[in-house]
Amino acid sequence: MATDLAKYGPWALITGGSEGVGAAAARQLAADGFKLVLVARKPEPLEALKAELEAGGTEVRIKSVDLSADDALAQVRQVTDDIEVGLMFYNAGANSVRGDFVDLDRSITQQVIAVNVLGQADFSRHYGKLMCDRGRGGIVLTGSTGGYSGSATIVTYAASKAFSRIFSEGLWLECGAKGVDVVHLCIGFTATPAMERLGLPIEFAETPEEVARQGLENLTNGPVWVVSTKGTIDGARSANTFDNRADVVRKHTVPPRESTGVS
Ligand SMILES: NC(=O)c1ccc[n+]([C@@H]2O[C@H](COP(=O)([O-])OP(=O)(O)OC[C@H]3O[C@@H](n4cnc5c(N)ncnc54)[C@H](OP(=O)(O)O)[C@@H]3O)[C@@H](O)[C@H]2O)c1
Repeated sequence: MATDLAKYGPWALITGGSEGVGAAAARQLAADGFKLVLVARKPEPLEALKAELEAGGTEVRIKSVDLSADDALAQVRQVTDDIEVGLMFYNAGANSVRGDFVDLDRSITQQVIAVNVLGQADFSRHYGKLMCDRGRGGIVLTGSTGGYSGSATIVTYAASKAFSRIFSEGLWLECGAKGVDVVHLCIGFTATPAMERLGLPIEFAETPEEVARQGLENLTNGPVWVVSTKGTIDGARSANTFDNRADVVRKHTVPPRESTGVS
């Protein structure tokens, strides 16, 4: 199903748009006629995807920005202030450093909060306000089944995804009244390059293409869309209970460090 260009176009902004779910969303939106602004840190993958999409006739802007920087939004605005962003897909936000919270450097905690909490809030305020003033648009905020329970070694990450889900729900109600769709896209284990780099067994994971497709196809099915395949809903459901939180937290501390070798 094509994403509605008249409702969510002409430009789509994708943070974390150089690989994985973000790149898959970019390709799908390009096929539907959207112009794209792609944001990530490393310039080379951004340039490669830009070249690929432009070869197919899509207009693409790229911006190399670290979303944890204080001025991340200001930097991205340099390439969006003169265009109409009708769709924002805030994708970046995976946890790349694991460890017991009390042992991790404060800067790692701050970075996760900057990208997943402050970043989602800042970008939603700025682009959401413009969309609400126009009376149309869409916002996808990427979450995780990890946001349904606490989890050892990713304490701050799990909490940040819980923030994203609850934040999305309230935003959905406010923005929906102004013609703007908001959906928290709850993702389970997905075969992205970031997970591959962590050495996780991605052969069991959902594809980024399927996750991006579900996010875009369910823009009007907010406030929360849990990826419906590969057991993701079951994972979220079993973590989303008032009973036996101790057991839930122990069970959902996956993958355990000892089984992955990731420290
Ligand atoms: N993959 C999974 O199994 C899984 C499971 C649950 C939830 N999720 C969620 O799905 C989203 C995508 O995850 P992912 O696995 O693809 O990894 P990711 O690292 O969150 O996303 C990869 C994309 O984001 C960019 N990026 C990462 N950190 C950035 C930063 N600080 N500033 C700017 N761009 C940044 C990457 O490019 P650069 O590295 O060049 O910056 C790349 O384009 C995340 O929100 C994650 O929490 C993923």
